[in-house]
This record gives sequence, structure tokens and C-alpha cells, in this order.
Amino acid sequence: MRIAMIGTGYVGLVSGACFADFGHRVTCVDTDAGKIASLKRGVMPIFEPGLEQLVETSVKAGRLDFTTDISGPVAEADAVFIAVGTPSRRGDGHADLSYVHAAARDIAAALQGFTVVVTKSTVPVGTGDEVERIIRETNPQADVAVASNPEFLREGAAIRDFKHPDRIVVGTDDERARKALGEVYRPLYLNQAPILYTGRRTAELIKYAANAFLATKITFINEIADLAEKVGADVQEVARGIGLDNRIGSKFLNAGPGFGGSCFPKDTRALVKTALDYEAPLRIVEAVLAVNDNRKRAMARKVANALGGQLRGKQIAVLGLTFKPETDDMREAPSIPLVTGLLDHGARVRAYDPVGMEQAKHELPDIAYAADPYDCAKDADALVIVTEWVQFRALDLERLKREMKQPVIVDLRNIYRREDMQALGFVYESVGRGA
Ligand code: NAD
Ligand code: UGA
Repeated sequence: MRIAMIGTGYVGLVSGACFADFGHRVTCVDTDAGKIASLKRGVMPIFEPGLEQLVETSVKAGRLDFTTDISGPVAEADAVFIAVGTPSRRGDGHADLSYVHAAARDIAAALQGFTVVVTKSTVPVGTGDEVERIIRETNPQADVAVASNPEFLREGAAIRDFKHPDRIVVGTDDERARKALGEVYRPLYLNQAPILYTGRRTAELIKYAANAFLATKITFINEIADLAEKVGADVQEVARGIGLDNRIGSKFLNAGPGFGGSCFPKDTRALVKTALDYEAPLRIVEAVLAVNDNRKRAMARKVANALGGQLRGKQIAVLGLTFKPETDDMREAPSIPLVTGLLDHGARVRAYDPVGMEQAKHELPDIAYAADPYDCAKDADALVIVTEWVQFRALDLERLKREMKQPVIVDLRNIYRREDMQALGFVYESVGRGA
């Protein structure tokens, strides 16, 4: 199959590289000329484990290339995927569909022969109808079917998630489109990944419902963590105790500083807005959003409490800035409101992240950046673990303590054991692990 991938970000680049790895002929298109130029040189615009090698192999085999020119790849393609961004619209929280609509117009003008246009971006219900309308208006001759194929990969594990999905969702009523997408995903189908064929609107809603449910699960355990602290229970054991019930499941029950990232926050916001537009409000998801926003802001207070209530003049070390490990993505990272809160209360901050510091400097220009975790801890009154990078799980704690002014650790990811920390003489605060 010949595939054109419109938008070469986290999703477009990973999907394009994986499709090429399956044996399809893929061209990734992006309007960002700098991004395309660097990909042509073999330099990845994002940090994602395994991506560089996957891209290199397919480029060498002649199955993958990159361009800013949309027309040739679209004209030749059997399937054109739209994987452009759908950020929150400034002001009202709806999904900003301007990139999707622009891509649809550019695609329409270039279509030749029967083509399936597939929305892979996360888009509100009804966007497929609008994409189809734009294409038919722009190019009434086009022989086209518009399908929805939402993507469920996670950053940091994107290639594995793409190649071993729990399910593939294809939303279309068009038989030719079903056949074409069945062919695109045949290598995964052979691996027994179930393909769920649905209507287009259903597929669009599945994506938002999945993200909203996962965000709810995290927020639920975060609130249980707060209660556990008050009543002297341990949230990790509670999570295990409920997670072993197959109806609940053990994943996404790690309490922490609140969810961040490029998707859960914006997608829950957009879903809430869609629901209000249709007069079917989603009160649970509204609460999840509010609770999560408050939680992220409250983390600076948690650090203050560990220091007896005062942050003014204190030096705080922050380990981990990205919204999760194994990515350089800073979008809506919990570190941002935490650090901002610390600065607002008069603290000084020095931070370290294994790969995210370049990105972080755009979001947090007013702090110092360290060369490693021990440099970060130098003269600190408290050290806060914000992102659970594997490098932070086995720190030389004696050395860390020697570097610090006061041995106070706030572990927002529960990666250490309280007993071990106390034995080493640390004042140790974590999340949801009551005395
Ligand atoms: P991104 O911001 O990393 O990449 C989007 C890319 O699209 C950018 O490189 C941009 O230059 C390009 N672009 C914008 N308009 C274009 C146009 N008209 N033609 C060609 N290129 C254009 O975004 P992302 O994180 O890859 O997310 C893309 C979509 O996938 C979003 O809807 C997101 O919600 C969804 N999604 C993301 C993830 C994830 O883990 N990041 C997972 C599942 C779904
Ligand atoms: C999430 C979903 O997991 C993907 O299925 C989806 O495709 C993607 O959003 C998307 O639509 O973009 P991602 O944001 O990459 O993927 O990362 P997650 O692993 O889901 O983590 C999101 C946030 O939740 C992070 O801040 C993470 O620290 C937090 N989290 C996650 C917890 O606090 N506890 C958990 O148990 C799990």
C-alpha cells in the first residue's frame, strides 16, 4: 500500500515509521520545513526510544521519506492519514480543528484515483463529516472515502504500543475504506490485534471516552491517596488490593502529582465542551479536570509542608521535568505549576531532567539547570522527585544527602520506600502513604 502521513509529530512520525516497517511505502509530510530538513538528515525532532533506528532502517530500504510538498504523495496514495495537532482552542477549551481543516483542503486538491482519507488525530465527534464536506466542496470529482482511525499509543512506549495494540478502531461505513484499512493493518491483524469496525462517529467518541476513562482512573486513585494520608493507609496497597479485581484492573492506578501531557488534559477539556454543546453534560469528567488542575497547583504546598510551611529563601532541587519518563514532551507537565508555585512563594529552583531540559527552558526560563541529580541536589533544602525516570530509582542516597543542606525528600511518584529513607536519616514525604 502507498501511504501519505500528513503531520509528522509524535503520532505521524511513529505511525509512518511503523507502517513503513510493516512493508508499506510511506511519505511523511509536514508544513514545518525545519522538521522535515532534520528528518532528511536522520535527526529526530522528538525523543522517543527506538524511533531513530526504525526510521533509519526504512529510509535505507526506500520505504520511507519526508517532504513538505503534499501534492505528490497524496496523488499516489491509497490511504492518506491526517495526524496533525488538535490542541485546546485558546479561550474555550474546544479542540482547535484549524490544522485538520487546512490539511483536508490541501489533501482534497491533490487527490487522484480512489483514496481513503483517514483521521488519526484525536477529533471531536462529527469532524469526519466536516472533513468529508471540505474535500467534496474543494474537489467535487474526488473519489474518496473518509474514515476515522484513532490512535492509542503512549509517548515513551509509542513503537511498542503501535505494533502491539490492544485493539485497532476503524470507523467507516464504506466497504472500500474498510478493505483498504484492513490491508494497511494486516500485519497487526496477523499478530491477533483485534480490529473493531464501527461507524465514524462511534470511532471518534471511543478515543475521547478512552482517554477520559484513563484520566478518571488516575484522578480517582489520587483522591484515594489524599484520604489514605489522612487515615494512615497506604495507597499503593489499596491500588493493588482493588487492581487485582479483574473488573477494575491494576494499570493506571499510580498516585502522583496529577496527570499531564499533550492529550489527557486537552482531550478531557474538549470532551466536556462537546458534551455541553449536545446538552449531555459529563459531570464526572468535569470533576476530573477540576480535581486534577487543583492537584497540580497544590504540589508546591506539599513541598512547603515538608519544610515546615516556609518556602521563602529556600533552595529546592527538582528531579524530572517532562510529563512522564522516556519523552522530552513538556506539554502540561505537572512540573510547570509545581516550579511556578515554588518560585511564587520565594524559593529558588535548580532542576535536572535526563532529556527534557532543552524543552523545559522554554516553559521555565527562570530557574537553574543542573548537570546531573547530585549537582541538582547541591545545597538544597529539599529535593522533589517529579518524574519517575529510571535513572532516579537507584540514586546514591548517601551522596545525595551529603550534597544537600537539609535531608528532605518529597517523592511525588512513590519510587522509594519510607523505611529505607528514614533509615538513612531523610525526612521523607510521598503520596498517599500515611504513617
Ligand atoms: P504534534 O504537535 O507533535 O505534531 C503535529 C504535526 O503536524 C506538527 O509537526 C505540525 O507541524 C504538523 N502540521 C500541522 N498542520 C499541518 C498541515 N496542514 N500539513 C502538514 N503538517 C501539519 O502532535 P502529536 O502529539 O503528534 O498529535 C497529533 C494528533 O494525534 C493530536 O490530535 C493528538 O491528540 C493525537 N494523539 C497524540 C498522541 C501522543 O502521544 N502525542 C497519542 C494519540 C493521539
Ligand atoms: C495517553 C494514553 O495513555 C494513550 O493511550 C493515548 O493514546 C494518549 O494519551 C493520547 O491520546 O495522546 P500519554 O499521554 O502519552 O498517553 O501518557 P500516559 O502514560 O497515559 O500518561 C499520561 C499522564 O498520566 C502522565 O502525566 C502520567 O504521569 C500520568 N499517570 C499515568 C499517572 O499519574 N498515574 C498512572 O497510573 C498513569
